[in-house]
Formats: sequence, structure tokens, C-alpha cells
Amino acid sequence: MRIHIEKQEQIARDAAQKYVELLNRKPEAVLGYATGSTPLGLYFELARLNREGALSFARATTFNLDEYAGLDGTHPQSYRYFMNKNLFYNIDIPIENTHVPNGINTDIAAKYDEAIEAAGGIDLQLLGIGNNGHIGFNEPGTPFGSVTHVVDLTDSTRQANARFFESIDEVPTQAVSMGIKTVMKAKSILMICIGKAKAQTVRDFILGEVTPDVPASILQLHPDVDVYLDPDAASLL
Ligand code: F6R
Repeated sequence: MRIHIEKQEQIARDAAQKYVELLNRKPEAVLGYATGSTPLGLYFELARLNREGALSFARATTFNLDEYAGLDGTHPQSYRYFMNKNLFYNIDIPIENTHVPNGINTDIAAKYDEAIEAAGGIDLQLLGIGNNGHIGFNEPGTPFGSVTHVVDLTDSTRQANARFFESIDEVPTQAVSMGIKTVMKAKSILMICIGKAKAQTVRDFILGEVTPDVPASILQLHPDVDVYLDPDAASLL
């Protein structure tokens, strides 16, 4: 695991350079994306670089980590809506090349892994981390061998995400998420962690034992991971 400690603005710039390098070397790359607050700076930077011609997504394919169960892509809090608004409509990717797990037909969840395989596997997977160590929506205790599946969201995750909804009651209780095995199959992983609230979890997943209690700790076993931390997130290392 390569650890980089930088200011938030610098993280967005440096992380974006990984996409410039990848897409110029392999224009048909398969990209795994995340939602949440953490990637917004990176997505802004990718759109800027795309406008300036530094990289093109025209031949890329994308797979998002997760989607709320019960929300379709027109719901403003769905992750499909988030991705269209914050990235896909701002870059030159054909929208049919973008994939988000189906939040309505959740019984087809495992087919998502087949679609990723059929596309050639993920070249670069972007991750954030939950305050409880989750990656995607793989909450503590999720088996390391899991593939894309329906998950029950913990109260702490629902509370953390309630800021995007009118009230906590509107936050879905389930989601569809790539599994931990799905994530670990990515050739390279780019993890970004921002803020003091993540500091203990960051310490646990980087320095602690590899355990399903801290889902992100599995990344210690992946051969190609870059972790970008701002000074607050790194403050307990
Ligand atoms: C979202 C996802 C989640 C988030 C995590 C952190 O697609 O996979 O694991 O990365 O909950 O969310 P933020 O960035 O909002 O702190």
C-alpha cells in the first residue's frame, strides 16, 4: 500500500493524474467509481482535464460500487443520479458505457460481477471509506469472499448519509453493493480518505489486523493500492 498525505486540493490533482496516465495508455480502460462527498474534488478535476483535452473517456467503461435499493436513477438521491450530475454529464463518456447496480431489480445483483468480467475487469477502482471502515456498502462483518449483493445498511451508515435526505426516515435501509471480492479483483485501487472523522478508521485499516470487522483492512493484501489521506485523516498514523 502506498500512502500519500496531502492537502485535499492536491489529492484531487494527483489522483486525476492517475486517470490521465491510464486513459492515455489504455483508452478503453474499465473504471470503478464511488459516490459520496470524498470523490467530488476528483470528479471536478476530471471534468476540467477532459474539457482541456488532457484525457478522454470516449472509449472507457465504468462500473459504480453501489446503489440504494428502491431508488431508480431519476431519484435525486440515487447514486445513478449523483454520477450523471457530478461526472458523467460533464465528460465525454457515452452514457451507455456507464453502469450502476440496479436498485430496483435487486435479485439480479450477482450479474453485475459477470458484466464486470465481460468488460475485461476493472483497471482502476476508486474507493472512499465509511466511518465504520466500510468500502462500497460492505459493512463490518461482510465476508471477504462476497460478490455484488444486497446489504442491510447499519444505523451508523444511514445516519451518516441522512445529510443528503430530508430526514433519516427517507434513507433506504438496503443497498446493492459490489462485494469485497469484486473490489479486490480490480487491477489497481485508489482510495481517498478526508477529514478527522475518518482518522481512527484510517489507522485501523492501515495499521490494524486484516479482519472483516474493518472491511477496508483487506486492502493490505492487494498488490497495487494508492491511499490518499489529507492531514486530518492521517492524524492518528
Ligand atoms: C459510496 C461508497 C461509500 C463511501 C463512504 C464514504 O459509493 O462506496 O463506501 O465511499 O461511505 O462516503 P463519504 O465520501 O461521503 O464520506
